[in-house]
Amino acid sequence: MLELKNISYVVEDSKGIIKDISLTIDDNKFIVITGPNGGGKSTLAKIICGILKPTSGNIILDGKDITDMSITERAKIGISFAFQQPVRFKGVTVKDLINLAAGKKLCTADACNYLSEVGLCAKDYIDREVNGSLSGGELKRIEIATVIARKTKLSIFDEPEAGIDLWSFKNLIEVFQKMHDEIHGSIIIISHQERILNIADEIIVIANGEIVNKGTREEVLDSLLDDSVSSPGCSVLREER
Ligand SMILES: Nc1ncnc2c1ncn2[C@@H]1O[C@H](COP(=O)(O)OP(=O)(O)O)[C@@H](O)[C@H]1O
Ligand SMILES: [Mg+2]
Repeated sequence: MLELKNISYVVEDSKGIIKDISLTIDDNKFIVITGPNGGGKSTLAKIICGILKPTSGNIILDGKDITDMSITERAKIGISFAFQQPVRFKGVTVKDLINLAAGKKLCTADACNYLSEVGLCAKDYIDREVNGSLSGGELKRIEIATVIARKTKLSIFDEPEAGIDLWSFKNLIEVFQKMHDEIHGSIIIISHQERILNIADEIIVIANGEIVNKGTREEVLDSLLDDSVSSPGCSVLREER
């Protein structure tokens, strides 16, 4: 279980990017965090995985306070993160990266399976370097494959849909569903996509650094749709039908 207790993140000259957020995420839950751009979602994800240290508040994983743990220590105890804008690694091949994520040397067929799962033709990618020659969408999928290969207690994906075409998107939904069925851990996805919201156990809406709505999918989706009818310009849902 992950607990955030009164988490704030303030940088100079700002009113506060995250303002006193408290929430509990039970094991084996599929949580989607949504809300307007600039609301603080990516900042909160980076605080959970240890890239940013909160200005105040505590992060507790399975009863243990991990607030002062580094990103590497958190990775070791089972937190994975896929960036909104994935990082490139010059000189490292896709296969190296998947092996690193899995924590063991996989045979080529097993490594390729992870790539196929995210809709990449594995043989075209497995020996490529994770450098500037990969497109944003390719990089994003490779990163999703590495998080799947890690099979951790808590996997966080920041806007996995960004840069991925809608034709392949259906497969990605299946990837997340399969991951949720197979891994005994929690998945947090930051997303604006209705199709991802539709498979959430719980939805959390963050705006202006605060939780403005939280509940089961049914509870929150209804109110999100109501909001978008009453104030269409302010909808947090980016419709893609
Ligand atoms: N290091 C920083 N210094 C100043 N402002 C920042 C910093 N990091 C993020 N912000 C601001 O904090 C707000 C929240 O950003 P972010 O967490 O990326 O939002 P979201 O992911 O919800 O779109 C934005 O207004 C952003 O410009
Ligand atoms: Mg973001």
